[in-house]
Amino acid sequence: MIQIEHLSKIFIGSEREHTALADINLTINDGDIFGIIGESGAGKSTLVRCINLLERPSSGRILIDGNDITKLSGKSLLALRREIGMIFQNFSLFAQRNVLHNVTFPLELTRTPAAQAEERARELLQLVGLADLAEAYPSQLSGGQQQRVAIARALANNPKIMLCDEATSALDTMTTHAILNLLRDINRELGVTMILITHSMNVAEAVCNRIAVIDGGTIVEQGETKAVFANPQAPITRALLGVEGGTASGIAADAAAFVAQESSATDKSSAERSAGESAGE
Ligand SMILES: Nc1ncnc2c1ncn2[C@@H]1O[C@H](COP(=O)(O)OP(=O)(O)OP(=O)(O)O)[C@@H](O)[C@H]1O
Ligand SMILES: [Mg+2]
Repeated sequence: MIQIEHLSKIFIGSEREHTALADINLTINDGDIFGIIGESGAGKSTLVRCINLLERPSSGRILIDGNDITKLSGKSLLALRREIGMIFQNFSLFAQRNVLHNVTFPLELTRTPAAQAEERARELLQLVGLADLAEAYPSQLSGGQQQRVAIARALANNPKIMLCDEATSALDTMTTHAILNLLRDINRELGVTMILITHSMNVAEAVCNRIAVIDGGTIVEQGETKAVFANPQAPITRALLGVEGGTASGIAADAAAFVAQESSATDKSSAERSAGESAGE
């Protein structure tokens, strides 16, 4: 279980401070596919980067199975990172390494003997449906294939948790479905807890059992995906879903005001017209 308690992150620049996350509280259960949804700049990437300490929180705690990871450094931090796989929006494969050696990379870091690393990598490439492309280089692969390599690489050290930052946003609809199915299989069959960042409500609805909506660095809504979709409360959730409320209701209200103005203008001119007509009589 991952418990995030009163997490804040303030970026301190030379000219200004920016609060990217403010008092975030979330619980992610083992086996969840937990969606974090929000608009660009909402703080989604910063939040997941705090979970593997690529970003150090400014305050608050992150407990993984009861241990506060924000206190870790050195070897214990490396051990933690091994338990957490991450896939990035831009795939981040090593261009000079073939597919097989992209997947063995994390195993080299953990000093796994080469033969064992290769065996594991081939097993993972089989799992993600790329066994035939082990010797190819990233530039020879499609976006969907590159993402599969990134997923295999993230699984190399048998992580308990996988962080997926916009795993499908660069992919077309069919490829997105295939990658989401793969992530769901990994969640079910390998029991990996997933935290999936997306700005797409369709992606969230397709795979996440629970979601949190983040806006301006604050969680504005969270719950079971079905419940949030059935009865969205926060204006931003309603806007993301395209129902009235938030931005959408703003537009509806403007439209209603415009129609009212138009019809009163029409009424006035017809009144003027009838006044004119009666004057002319
Ligand atoms: N290293 C940094 N230094 C200063 N500000 C940062 C840094 N990283 C992120 N920010 C700011 O924090 C805010 C949240 O950024 P973040 O990358 O978490 O957003 P996001 O929700 O992932 O957006 P997107 O959907 O566009 O990826 C933004 O305003 C961003 O400019
Ligand atoms: Mg981001």
